[in-house]
Amino acid sequence: MNVQIGHHRIIDGDANALDIERSHTTEADGTPYRGVIDLHSHVLPGVDDGAVTMDDSLAIARAAAADGVHMLAATPHVRGDFPTTVGMVRDALEDVRAAVATAGIALDVISGAEIGIDRLPLLTIDELEALALGGSSRAVLVEFPYLGWPVQLAEELGRLLDLGLRPILAHPERNPDVQEAPGRLAHLVEAGVLVQLTASSLTGRGGQDARRTAFRLLDDGLCHLVATDAHRPSARDGRMSSARDVVEDAAVAGWLTVDVPTAVVSGTAIPERPPTRARRRRFGFGR
Ligand SMILES: [Fe+2]
Repeated sequence: MNVQIGHHRIIDGDANALDIERSHTTEADGTPYRGVIDLHSHVLPGVDDGAVTMDDSLAIARAAAADGVHMLAATPHVRGDFPTTVGMVRDALEDVRAAVATAGIALDVISGAEIGIDRLPLLTIDELEALALGGSSRAVLVEFPYLGWPVQLAEELGRLLDLGLRPILAHPERNPDVQEAPGRLAHLVEAGVLVQLTASSLTGRGGQDARRTAFRLLDDGLCHLVATDAHRPSARDGRMSSARDVVEDAAVAGWLTVDVPTAVVSGTAIPERPPTRARRRRFGFGR
């Protein structure tokens, strides 16, 4: 299905093709995707710049479940302007999990955090472990800033690795320094750092520079998973399924949205990436 949609875009060059309604929860052969995990969201209410009320949280949860996501990590900002604590995450998560269950939404919301780089030195090892995705995975989501290359990046990520934690860099493709030189991430990836792309970057909603960089990281083997970074119910082109569609390779898309996130949450080895099928050049984006 996604192949046909991609073909339509390329052949017709029709912007309306982007609005074609289609099921987002099936693979090209019609098989339902299973096990999609979204490891980055701001679903906890009143904690950061994401959901404000529990209704917002439920709307995000409903949209995720409708998109085929079965597990969603609540990853509130932990940084200077949102100094979220372990206790705040625990309490808000408990409330959201209860509300999601009461509302009958089939979604497992798990704990987590998106930790600012300058916040990392201020957290104890116990706090870092408690803020890991799912609470016990030892995988820590680290926010890549939207501007500038953090001078302390390598040192801080190295410290996490030395502590036996698994750092995941959130959405570096949105940063102009990375957009200019995506290869700067290579030595971090070689050291064991994982890279998370945001779904809306792949679909183009985050701008063409982010899109170009996201695909460059994908082509160069410098990314491992896709997440929504949902602050509110995602627009159609910010969903996990939309990202899977534009990746145009069901095996790689499944690796990015199912296989790697599953390994991250369970704290197991990252599975080898499937061989990439040649992707057609998408018109109009000059990749
Ligand atoms: Fe985020």
